[in-house]
Amino acid sequence: MGFIETRQDITASVKEQADIVKIIGEYVELKRSGIRYLGCCPFHNEKTPSFSVHGPQQFYHCFGCHESGDVFSFLMKYHNYDFPTALKYLADKFNIALPRKKVTRKEKEREEKLQRMYDVTEKAARIYRQQLHDEKEDGAARLYLREREIPEDIQSLFQIGYAPAKEAAGWNFLETRLSSAEAEIAEQVGLLARGEKGGRYDRFRDRILFPIFDAKGRIIGFGGRIVGQGQPKYMNSPESPIYNKSRNLLGLYQQREEIRRSRKAIIVEGNFDLISLVTHGCTNVVAPLGTALTASQIRLLSRYSEEMILLFDGDEAGVKAAVRAAPYFLAEKVHARVALLPPGHDPDTFVRQKGLDALQALLAGAGDLSEFLVEHLIQQHGLTLEGKSRIAEEIKPLVTAAHSPLQRSVIIAHFADRLGVDPQRLEESVSSEENGAQRMKEVARPQQEREEIRLQPLSPAQKRLAEFMVMNPRYFKELEEKNLRETLRGGVGEILFLQIKMMTAANSEVQPEEIFSALPEGPERNIVADMLFNASRSDFIGSAADQAEEELQELLEWLDGQNQRNLSRSLTLQIEQAQKENDFVALEKLLLQKQTIEREMRGYGE
Ligand code: GTP
Ligand code: MN
Repeated sequence: MGFIETRQDITASVKEQADIVKIIGEYVELKRSGIRYLGCCPFHNEKTPSFSVHGPQQFYHCFGCHESGDVFSFLMKYHNYDFPTALKYLADKFNIALPRKKVTRKEKEREEKLQRMYDVTEKAARIYRQQLHDEKEDGAARLYLREREIPEDIQSLFQIGYAPAKEAAGWNFLETRLSSAEAEIAEQVGLLARGEKGGRYDRFRDRILFPIFDAKGRIIGFGGRIVGQGQPKYMNSPESPIYNKSRNLLGLYQQREEIRRSRKAIIVEGNFDLISLVTHGCTNVVAPLGTALTASQIRLLSRYSEEMILLFDGDEAGVKAAVRAAPYFLAEKVHARVALLPPGHDPDTFVRQKGLDALQALLAGAGDLSEFLVEHLIQQHGLTLEGKSRIAEEIKPLVTAAHSPLQRSVIIAHFADRLGVDPQRLEESVSSEENGAQRMKEVARPQQEREEIRLQPLSPAQKRLAEFMVMNPRYFKELEEKNLRETLRGGVGEILFLQIKMMTAANSEVQPEEIFSALPEGPERNIVADMLFNASRSDFIGSAADQAEEELQELLEWLDGQNQRNLSRSLTLQIEQAQKENDFVALEKLLLQKQTIEREMRGYGE
């Protein structure tokens, strides 16, 4: 535990030296006003200052948007840093030494492997970008971009490139420009494919290429649009160790500042919609990566803005996409609105033909997404008894998408109210043949029972197990198999157990932060918040992966021991019973069992 004290010392001494007025003064123009300083809030748009910084107490507060915190939270919010990054930033600035992170060989190798991948995608992007430059002015690629009115500066902002056609450059355009080690990696990230005869060839040919950036600005893949007509219209990089299409957003890296400043993000569907909007001055925009919007993408975006507007085509496909996205927004508790374009338009053609003002007007009139969903369902099915039960049927997936009992009841209440039915009735009809209904019910215990469970505080062992389970959900199954639930029974830990069981069943790679956001307000959530906070503070010390493995082994052994002890205790009771009843056959068997157990238990140090 020694290092935690060191870390707290460091945090304290950084805070002592990093004067909040000076640090915030680097980002905001501050004017003295009595004992505080005032400026225009960097977290919302304003013309008259309502952002105040207090030197003596070292905190800031905005009277307009109610943001407040210390120097760390300012940097975390302003730059989207996590705590360790903010701490490191300030420590570097004030020359305070941080304990160095111990990196294991395995971790280092993995990091280097990923870095080599980023290097190759970066290089490929440069090659394709250069190729676009080298194309003739009246060559198809440049002509196409001109036709679509994408100016040079926007092409450069998005680092748009061109992969030449095989007629012009053969099948190995990229490979001939890479070393053989790089080509190997290019294949791993899907830039090169392998043919039946074993040779490598270009994945992208005769396509306009959009590099896909992650939030840190690294190129993780490409989206390729065919030049002009043809099928398939788009071809994208396959997923790879560096590219996950459901956890990234096109344009987020380039437009993040605009999104943060306007506190709003507009979501469009197409790559060209994105760059066309940016071209015309609607700059707080992103697009998913060729698939329907995911919960992770919404979560990612909600770190930059609280409000999101879906700007979709007005046709059936656009309506469907909006309807499908609704549960995720509801579940993530993100306020979303929908603007549908007039028939025959997509965001690109609309802004080009009608201009920015018309687009802004359309966005200003965007309606509430859940309202839109209800209206849509009512229009489709009507409000007859029959219609209502159809609607209940349709919102089932929406209700199951909720990942906590509280969210579930919020969603149910919302629809019950709109449809004029009793929430209890709606809950019943939604639950009737719902898949995994049992699982849901287990979590959605009656409120009273949950309250009783909560009253018991966690023992130190329970606390350690619960914390490990939250921070390392990938090991949940292994712990569960060792009767983890039994050990946590009757405490907050059991609620966490049920929550994590449900979430890991749906997604084995669920992250601690996701568990946190899925929990309703209450002690469980507070406990997880503490765990996350402590973990992020000690992040830069010690090697996470290795430590987790080690700790897992230790905990599994402890659980084994615990199970043995329980078994032994129950055997003792049975033995007493058998003695009372003079059942010597059973007695002999039980004594033998107990002997074996005790021998094993000595291995656990009892
Ligand atoms: P255009 O305006 O026709 O150039 O296309 P767009 O960029 O506006 O895209 P569109 O609205 O047609 O489609 C939305 C998104 O879906 C695209 O940006 C792609 O990410 C994806 N998409 C469209 N067509 C295909 C396809 O044929 N294959 C794949 N994998 N994705 C596609
Ligand atoms: Mn389009």
